[in-house]
Amino acid sequence: ENGVIVAIDGPSGAGKSSLTKLLAQRLGYIHIDTGAMFRAVALMSKRAGIATDDDARLAELCRGLDVTFVRDGASCRVLANGEDVSTEIRTEEIGLLTSAISARKPVREALLTMQRAMGAKGGVILEGRDIGTVVFPDAEVKFFLSASAEERGRRRYLELAARGDSATLEETIAKVIQRDKQDEGREHAPLKQADDALPIDSTSLSIEEVLSVMENAVRERL
Ligand code: C5P
Repeated sequence: ENGVIVAIDGPSGAGKSSLTKLLAQRLGYIHIDTGAMFRAVALMSKRAGIATDDDARLAELCRGLDVTFVRDGASCRVLANGEDVSTEIRTEEIGLLTSAISARKPVREALLTMQRAMGAKGGVILEGRDIGTVVFPDAEVKFFLSASAEERGRRRYLELAARGDSATLEETIAKVIQRDKQDEGREHAPLKQADDALPIDSTSLSIEEVLSVMENAVRERL
């Protein structure tokens, strides 16, 4: 038995990344940050000077791009064609660009194939926007993790400030809302709660509280 497939979807800043990592540790599962894969495509498209709506060149870029994860203790590095892009993909600028290019069909198709291959064996937690709806609609356990836009903006702001980024709280909240709108409004694989997902509002919950809700829900399915 390899274990089940767990899908964690939700808007940016809801705590998906931290929770996915912790839950994976508790269960002895691997975790896959699908947002990092889209971010890697966005970074490479920016470097190549590809317009966000140039589907032909985006398709070509994806065909030649290999995104892999290298686990190194608790940390996980993202490699794009062997190059460690973990830090470079984390800026707000790349976040917004990612939201634009991840709406393009060829990009979604290319990463869908990679994500299904990565998760196929089970014993895996995938976090993203469309895992429970599109990538693994038959996942045994699905969570939809949200929090108010203000709280998500505040969390993102603290993260950015810790990295020395000078963005203000207001700007950060505005960007969070803009990204939600783009992700929810797109035609292909929009951000949406799967009908059979367990919704969790983390606005006033601690990481530990959310983690135990998730762990219990998964263990019930094992
Ligand atoms: O989760 P993260 O903030 O790193 O995701 C960056 C962007 O990648 C999201 O705003 C979204 O546009 C896109 N994304 C997606 N589908 C996923 C994961 C991320 O479209 N499964």
